[in-house]
Amino acid sequence: MTAKQIHLAAHFPGVNNTTVWSDPEAGSHIEFSSFVKLAQTAERAKFDFFFLAEGLRLREQGGEIYDLDVVGRPDTFTVLSALAAVTDRLGLAGTINSTFNEPFEVARQFASLDHLSAGRAAWNVVTSWDAFTGENFRRGGFLPQDQRYSRAETFLRTAWELFDSWRGDELVADKESGRFLTDGGHFAHRDAHFDISGRFPVPRSPQGRPVTIQAGDSEEGREFAAATADAIFTRHGTLEAGQAFYSDVKGRLAKYGRSPHELVILPAATFVLGDTDAEAHEIAHEVRLQQVSEQTAIKFLEQLWNTDLSDHDPNGPLPSFDPVVGDLISKGRASVRMHRDPVATAHEWRQLAEAKHLSSRELIIEVTGRQNFIGSAETVASAMNDLVQADASDGFILVPHVTPGGLDRFADEVVPRLQERGVFREDYRGPTLRDHLGLN
Ligand SMILES: Cc1cc2nc3c(=O)[nH]c(=O)nc-3n(C[C@H](O)[C@H](O)[C@H](O)COP(=O)(O)O)c2cc1C
Repeated sequence: MTAKQIHLAAHFPGVNNTTVWSDPEAGSHIEFSSFVKLAQTAERAKFDFFFLAEGLRLREQGGEIYDLDVVGRPDTFTVLSALAAVTDRLGLAGTINSTFNEPFEVARQFASLDHLSAGRAAWNVVTSWDAFTGENFRRGGFLPQDQRYSRAETFLRTAWELFDSWRGDELVADKESGRFLTDGGHFAHRDAHFDISGRFPVPRSPQGRPVTIQAGDSEEGREFAAATADAIFTRHGTLEAGQAFYSDVKGRLAKYGRSPHELVILPAATFVLGDTDAEAHEIAHEVRLQQVSEQTAIKFLEQLWNTDLSDHDPNGPLPSFDPVVGDLISKGRASVRMHRDPVATAHEWRQLAEAKHLSSRELIIEVTGRQNFIGSAETVASAMNDLVQADASDGFILVPHVTPGGLDRFADEVVPRLQERGVFREDYRGPTLRDHLGLN
């Protein structure tokens, strides 16, 4: 039996604390040349796709813009369309939420991207989590979780109706007879969220339906993904958590008449490479110190304690009092949602810090650690392959900590080792992203 093949995607590091913009090697997050560099490296390495996350409002903390991470992102469709012109095979995946948009517009944009890229478009459908972002849209309103998912599901299905309103054989373009089109593009959709009808102006695109990715992790999110997604972007990147997520979500497919290979599960993964494992661990430690500066440590503590800690010593113990309950001082940050019980989390952190003799900053380094793969290229290739063969995932969405050169070493050293093992393609086998993902 041939070994399971690994899927790889490149995440252009967005606004998050894994990105080290202050590194001497780091470049711009907004100049086109940065996007080109990362995308072309990913394509040289035969990756499945390039991935852009979405964040639609500048984050704030204590009423000020949070500028310890990279701030600001250009528009997704503009970036991906431009990348379509400087790449040939690489998939182009954009995160676009279903809460603040309209199906007609988003379907038109993705169908267009699929045409311009000759079948390489993917849509990561997210619901977006916070009312703070919602203030930029929807006349100030927001949607509760259950309505966000019901809107997301009908949004996606409506978009599919629009894509499917063309069969693909309507364009005749017969110069002799003067007939350009037979009839096509009719749609009429009515449900609790949308009541639209007319004609969809973009003829059927190369993939028909661009690839659908999802990233929800709640019960509703997993169910939605099992029903509709071609790929899932998850944060469960370790063996145990990965296997649990993988079997849970793949186990949900049968009730939708789908089989396990119709859904590709891809955790986010960071990596640090060195000539030896020991050197990689040293570099990884330096990277963590860059990612969690003294100021960042304080800001992270403030997010849990929900109060101003600007006078706190990051190299001393954790605050001795309990987190403040009430309106959150941190706005627009996804990880804040994970602190569902801040008082309990603070107690856990205090126990951990005491047991391991950690300062506040060291504790934050410990609890926010996300370096999945550290080692020589050989070690990293083995570790990745082990996870995939053990069904903890089908591959990874790699998040380099430096933009745009952070993927170079991976492309040059790890990819060839995966190819030697026969678990990663030597070349693309077809033109479309569906081909790369084995979805055709
Ligand atoms: C790995 C991962 C990446 C995500 N990236 C984004 C993103 O870039 N933009 C966004 O608005 N939501 C993002 N989300 C949020 C989810 O897609 C989802 O909308 C949100 O988590 C609420 O759904 P849930 O309650 O099912 O988790 C991400 C979630 C995960 C797990």
